[in-house]
Parts: sequence; structure tokens; C-alpha cells
Amino acid sequence: MRALTEKTLVIATHNDGKLREFAGLMAPFGIEARSAGEHGLPEPEETGTTFEENAYIKAFAAAKATGLPALSDDSGLCVDALGGQPGVYTANWAETPDGKRDFAIAMQRTEVALQEVGATEPAQRTGRFVAVLCLAWPDGHAEYFRGEAEGRLVWPPRGEKGFGYDPVFLPNGHDRTFGEMTAEEKHGWKPGMKEALSHRARAFQKFAQAMLGSS
Ligand code: IMP
Repeated sequence: MRALTEKTLVIATHNDGKLREFAGLMAPFGIEARSAGEHGLPEPEETGTTFEENAYIKAFAAAKATGLPALSDDSGLCVDALGGQPGVYTANWAETPDGKRDFAIAMQRTEVALQEVGATEPAQRTGRFVAVLCLAWPDGHAEYFRGEAEGRLVWPPRGEKGFGYDPVFLPNGHDRTFGEMTAEEKHGWKPGMKEALSHRARAFQKFAQAMLGSS
């Protein structure tokens, strides 16, 4: 695995929710996190069919354009009763006819799909959030870190915190959705702690252990 020697990283995302989460996770490590938006980078088209492929497309585009290592995240919600959908298309399910994103619509779409397959009982509504972090260098080398959070889908949505599908996701072992948790509770991890809760924090924990020397 290639070592990370640089102290500045570009966070290759145009999603404010993810950017906030990354900045919070990165803060304890003395790494300066710059956003792709700050560098005026365009959002590349996600043409991959796996989280890994899309994470690489985003990280490598940002690394090549800035000359700095770049960290991206490709994530999504995989629902078992829907054969793993929306998966890599999680953000697309939020698209509105005028090209914007509305996650109330995305959550509703997921619920309609679950109703259509008759998944009404909690045990039929299992799934997981997946996050794949890709750290790419300008020369094209890349390292990957995957995190998953198991849970089930609830309806109606609960809680106003978080972003995206947080209000309909109830992580295993908890009685509040991600939308009802503070960012600290949702991630459930600080350097030195045993295990993270959210998919992104779990992936980040692996990244921090491998690249930043975290315990
Ligand atoms: P992408 O990784 O930019 O392709 O988008 C993934 C989509 O998955 C986001 O737009 C969110 O809607 C959803 N998603 C990923 N992580 C989370 C999370 O932690 N909470 C809620 N929704 C999430």
C-alpha cells in the first residue's frame, strides 16, 4: 500500500453533506482538506457500475486536475428486497424532471418499490449503506477503503438531521434513524475508538488506520 506523505488532500465531492462529514472526520489528523468546489473542478460523470469504479473516476479526476492526492467517496443504499437497488444509482433516484435532486422523492420511490414487492414486515426491509473511499494520486495510483452499515428501512421518514436517505435508515442495534442522530452519534467514531457506526465513518476508520497512523 502506498504511503500518504502529503498534508493536503482534495476532497473530491460536490455534495455538501459529504464534505461536512469528511471535514469533521479529518479534523483530528491535521490534514488540510480542500474541496473540489474550491478548486472550481467540474463534477465528472459517474459511468461506473460499482462503487469502486465511480469512486476512482471522481478521485482521479480531482487528483489529475490539482496535482494533489484526492479522496473521494462513492456511496449508496442497497436494499435486499430490491436486489441491491438503488445501489450505485442512489443519487439518481432523487432526480426530478427539472434536473434537481429531491430526497423526499427518492425515499418515497424506495418505499413504493418496497410496497410493490410486498416488503412490509421489518425483516423484509433489510439493507445497508455502503461507502467506498478512493484515494488517488495524480499518477493514477489508487487505494480503496470500504465501509458498510447494516440496518433496515422504516416508513414514514424520521428526523431532520443528516442528509439524503438518513430519515428512513434505522441502523441495527439502534432505535433511532440516522436522521434522528447527531453527526457524532451517526458516525460513532473518534480516533482511538473501537468501531464506527456509519458506513462513511467505517470506511474512513480504515483509511485513517492505513494512511494516517490512527489506532
Ligand atoms: P454518490 O456517492 O455521490 O453517487 O451519491 C450517493 C447517494 O447516496 C447520496 O446522494 C445520498 O443520497 C446517499 N447517501 C450516501 N451516504 C448517505 C448517508 O450517510 N446518509 C444518507 N444518504 C446517503
